Amino acid sequence: MGKSGIILCFSILSVICVNLFSCPEVSLAGELDQKKSIDSGKEIYRQNCAVCHGFTGDGKGVPPEELDPPPPDFTLPEFWKDKSNSFLFHIISNGIGQMPAWSDSLTPEQIWNVLSYIKTFPKTDPNAVTQTPPGSLAH
Ligand code: HEC
Repeated sequence: MGKSGIILCFSILSVICVNLFSCPEVSLAGELDQKKSIDSGKEIYRQNCAVCHGFTGDGKGVPPEELDPPPPDFTLPEFWKDKSNSFLFHIISNGIGQMPAWSDSLTPEQIWNVLSYIKTFPKTDPNAVTQTPPGSLAH
């Protein structure tokens, strides 16, 4: 290969090296973003959702006879089973049953943030609940 080929090789190598070295920083930035998103979602939740869904997400914000069907219990890993982010985003945006739509009062980013936050309610990772939740065999 000619001189320019060697230079090209070096520049490709250096790009790979830079990417390898910057990887930890990228994932750290991702985690920080995630934390920021959850923090902002918490504020939004407390102001808009807790009145019905409860501050702990157990769905006991209002007396059960006032809403039929009542809000679900977000603390149960079972609730999150088979529910995709895009499905939940759609529900929060457009409302369901006696829950109002939020797309008029919240931006898509705020809806994603509040979704990130409510996914922290169950003890287990909501993305890992396809298996039997720990402890459920005891019942
Ligand atoms: C006026 C009371 C009320 C408020 C305020 C409210 N919700 Fe709900 N929400 C409900 C009820 C009732 C249900 C159950 C509806 C049904 O199953 O028909 C529900 C259901 C849900 C569900 C589950 C949908 C499903 O598929 O089972 C999600 C997620 C949700 N709400 C998120 C939110 C978020 C996020 C907010 C705040 C931005 C919010 N809710 C504010 C009453 C409310």
